[in-house]
Amino acid sequence: MAGKDGADRVYVFGYSPAAVGMMENRSAEGNARFFLDHLKPGMSVLDMGCGPGSITVGIAAAVAPGEVVGIDIEPSQIMLGRDRAASLGLQNCRFETGSVYDLPFGDRTVDAVFGHTILMQFRDLDPVLGEIKRVLKPGGLIGFREIDIGASLFHSETSAIRDVMTILRRSILHNDGNPDIGRALPRLLADAGFNIRSAAAAYNCATTPEAKAGMYEMMAQLWKQSEFVARAESDGWISPSARRAMTDRLEQEAGDPGSFSGTTYAEVVAYSPATA
Ligand SMILES: C[S@@+](CC[C@H](N)C(=O)[O-])C[C@H]1O[C@@H](n2cnc3c(N)ncnc32)[C@H](O)[C@@H]1O
Repeated sequence: MAGKDGADRVYVFGYSPAAVGMMENRSAEGNARFFLDHLKPGMSVLDMGCGPGSITVGIAAAVAPGEVVGIDIEPSQIMLGRDRAASLGLQNCRFETGSVYDLPFGDRTVDAVFGHTILMQFRDLDPVLGEIKRVLKPGGLIGFREIDIGASLFHSETSAIRDVMTILRRSILHNDGNPDIGRALPRLLADAGFNIRSAAAAYNCATTPEAKAGMYEMMAQLWKQSEFVARAESDGWISPSARRAMTDRLEQEAGDPGSFSGTTYAEVVAYSPATA
C-alpha cells in the first residue's frame, strides 16, 4: 500500500537512461494535442507527474504569458525540466518537486490540470482526484492521457513487444497501479464529479521503418536497464534465459516488415463543476 504522499510506492518505469529517454521523446504536439485545443493564453496550468518536462514546455508555449508548473516526485526529473525550460528561454514555466497526493498549490488557484501516464500508477484515485479538485478553480479544465495496455494491438500473440508489455502490465498491477486505466478514465472522472467534455482513444504506433527501428531499440534498452525486468526474473515471472533472449527477439522483430504494434491511450478532457 502507498502512504499518503506515495513515497513508499515503487514507480515501475524507474529512471534509467532508457526510461527517461522515452519520456524525453514526448511533446505537447505529439502527446497532448487533444488538450492544447482547450487552452488559452494567460491560463495557469499544472502538469502533474511531469517527468523530464518535454510535454510541459509545449503547454507553456501554448498558454504564455500564463504560468505552467510541472511537479514530479523525483528531483532528478525536476532538474531536467528546469534545464529544458532554461535552454528554451521560457519565462513562464516552473518545475517543483512535489507529490500528486499533496499538490503544492492553494485551494482554487489553478485554471487547468494536465497529466500524461500518471494516473495509471494509483489504483485508488480518490485522494489524487480530491487534490485536483481542491486546487482547480470552479469550472477548471482537466486533460488526461492514460495508457490501456490490455487494449493494445500486436501483430501476433508471440510478438516480443507483446511479451515486454505483458511484463510491464503485470509489474504495474503488482505495484498497485492500473495498466488498463484508459478504458475506465471517463467513468472515474465522471464519478468524481467532473463534467466530461470529450473522451477518445488513440494508438501510439511507430509508423515508418525508421521509427520502428528507433522504437525497438528503445524497448531493448528499457528491457536491459529496467528494475521491473530484473524483478520479473527474481519473482519467477520469466526465466533467466527468456530474459536474455528478449534482446535478440526484439532485434529480429524490428527487422520484420510485417511486425506491428499500437499502444492504446485514452484522452479525456473534462471540467470541474462551475459552482464547486
Ligand atoms: C510515466 S512517467 C510520465 C512523465 C510525463 N508525464 C510524460 O508522460 O513524459 C510518470 C512520472 O510520474 C512521477 N510520479 C510517480 N509518483 C508520483 C507522485 N506520487 N507524485 C508526483 N509524481 C509522481 C514519476 O516520477 C514519473 O516521472
